[in-house]
Amino acid sequence: MILLNDFQRQWEHTSARILSAVAAVGESGWYVLGENVAAFEQSLAGLWQRRYAAGVASGLDALEISLRVLGCRPGDPVLTTPFSAFATTLAILKIGAVPVFVDTDRSGHIDLALCREVLRRRQDIRFLVPVHLYGNALDLAALKELRAEFDLQVVEDCAQAILASSAGMPAGSAGQLAATSFYPTKNLGALGDGGAILTDDEQFDGLVRVLRDYGQSGKYRHDEIGYNSRLDELHAAVLNRVHLPELQGWTGRRRAIAARYRAELRNARCECLPMPPGSESVDHLFPVLVREGGKQEFLSYMRSREILCGEHYPIPIPDQRAMAHAKWETATPLENARRIAGSEVSLPIHPYLTDEEVGRVIGAVNEWGASLAGLD
Ligand SMILES: Cc1ncc(COP(=O)(O)O)c(C=O)c1O
Repeated sequence: MILLNDFQRQWEHTSARILSAVAAVGESGWYVLGENVAAFEQSLAGLWQRRYAAGVASGLDALEISLRVLGCRPGDPVLTTPFSAFATTLAILKIGAVPVFVDTDRSGHIDLALCREVLRRRQDIRFLVPVHLYGNALDLAALKELRAEFDLQVVEDCAQAILASSAGMPAGSAGQLAATSFYPTKNLGALGDGGAILTDDEQFDGLVRVLRDYGQSGKYRHDEIGYNSRLDELHAAVLNRVHLPELQGWTGRRRAIAARYRAELRNARCECLPMPPGSESVDHLFPVLVREGGKQEFLSYMRSREILCGEHYPIPIPDQRAMAHAKWETATPLENARRIAGSEVSLPIHPYLTDEEVGRVIGAVNEWGASLAGLD
């Protein structure tokens, strides 16, 4: 079976180094917020070309804490996308703030031109949480312009976009803060949960560090109502010593597979989702759109060919049942988000797929429907 992610293959490749990193943490006798977290934060900030990086417990916490740092309070409207992992909206709801959904463009990313229209008529909106989806980067120059024009507080959701860029600008460099995730499926995954917040602002970074640790500014000195959202030494050691040094290679492999898919997939019922203009993708996922309501048929067909595909995401966030219990608004019709959710399928893409397996995925997609056509 060809899997969406194959962690056993990754473990075969990395286990010796991981076990030695784990032993070093064990022997150090220091397990939370220690020298491994500090070293990882420094490496991550350097890689991302931001002055500061602070580890937290998850991508969800990274988003929530970032919004808190920017002063987002209960009842504040926050412009965001209806088409993402639920966590993007959950972070807003957990603060008691109100998500205001704006439709996506054809690439599935929040439509920045529509955001501008909404912001012109809604002067009460000060916060924006855009998402760089599928490993792409949104148009960062346009995002920066929007931030300046409306004096916005922006948290970029970079959970899927580490190392992605747009016309040379790294994803996460247009907002005040960037939030990311080390959930195992991410391009830089841990062996469990983790996240980080990146910024160039010393005060924001300082407040993140206070908030992530019970709101303490010093031992037993609590200045804020904070969180327990600390990155463990074990995760930081694995990330810094083993996975981070692999990241360029892993990303290169993802890009090579995506390039083959783009060049060799040929099936009129199954087209590649367009990318935002200028996006230099890190191909976290490889989304295709299956036409004419054929998504479920395509998923079962691929399973019958021993290929597991994914769906990112089948239900737009405002249509999720949990949203019946929450306060939120839609600022535009959500036509693109609903259309893409109804037809998107993610093909397997991960660094340990072999060339032969990539060929099998391409062959299966290209042959889908061919046998039916032959019966006519
Ligand atoms: C776009 C996006 N935002 C936020 C998150 C939340 O990250 P985590 O699972 O680490 O809380 C994820 C991961 O699932 C994600 O894909």
